[in-house]
Amino acid sequence: PRKIIIDTDPGQDDAVAILLALASPEEIEVLGITAVAGNVPLPLTQRNARIVCELAGRPDTRVFAGCDKPLRRPLVTAEHVHGKTGLDGPSLPEPTMPLQDAHAVDFIVETLRQEPSESVTLCPLGPLTNIASAMMAAPDIVPRIREIVLMGGAYFEVGNITPAAEFNIYVDPEAADVVFSSGVPLTVMPLDVTHKALVTKDRNDAFRALGTTVGVAVAQMTEFFERFDKEKYGSEGAPLHDPCVTAHLICPDLFAGRHVNVEIETNSPLTLGMTVADWWRVTGRSPNAMFMGSVDDEGFFALLTERLGRL
Ligand code: BDR
Ligand code: CA
Repeated sequence: PRKIIIDTDPGQDDAVAILLALASPEEIEVLGITAVAGNVPLPLTQRNARIVCELAGRPDTRVFAGCDKPLRRPLVTAEHVHGKTGLDGPSLPEPTMPLQDAHAVDFIVETLRQEPSESVTLCPLGPLTNIASAMMAAPDIVPRIREIVLMGGAYFEVGNITPAAEFNIYVDPEAADVVFSSGVPLTVMPLDVTHKALVTKDRNDAFRALGTTVGVAVAQMTEFFERFDKEKYGSEGAPLHDPCVTAHLICPDLFAGRHVNVEIETNSPLTLGMTVADWWRVTGRSPNAMFMGSVDDEGFFALLTERLGRL
């Protein structure tokens, strides 16, 4: 299996991404989960990460708390999407599994130094603060990272937190800039992909029909998440942003995109956090990211539902 660290700010869709990874031990070995401030503040994201591990029946998973605010800006959160706890919808028990003592950034650095070079993949599902902090604190780890597969950014779909920017990149654009200019191979799931992974009524019914605690909880999470997208965008269902990352590790053929240059806007107040993707290769800048654009949504939901059924 591929060794990964999931860096996350759960978030209902983060929760589903984590469940999918933990349900797929043949393909994925989760070395640890690192929480970051994002959708909600850090005390809630680290708590939610532990709730999700317990829901998956994997209280042995190591969960670390990381940065509680972006590198250089005040934290922007998204309770308007995810609810007050970040994981509104199902009522799940308070976690009893421990939070690890080490800081998430130290865990990322130490793991990359200990594991064979180019064997560990990082999977960021929130603002990139922990990842950029690790790269800045220990530049020697950068060439040791096999790949970073992340959810963030947008091209044709532009923004969901401002007209120009997607939430994860907007919250910490300086951190995103560090990651996108690091030279590490990047695979990016922007809104262009994730807005095609919609939980329609039938798909939600299929989660519930699993008849398990996990299936029902995922149905309740996506129902809560959906209310926002339906009201606000008239969308057909909740977009499952973050699970695109873990699905890609299991079944990369579900996704298609282009290897392009992507730069992050860190100055303009109007377009702060925009992922400027050179889709039509109009600059001479070298490609630094596999920027995905489409997903086989039927295949994606078939995989997800089947795997959730294993938990
Ligand atoms: C991203 O922002 C968060 O609200 C979601 O969890 C996802 O990671 C989508 O823009
Ligand atoms: Ca997230």
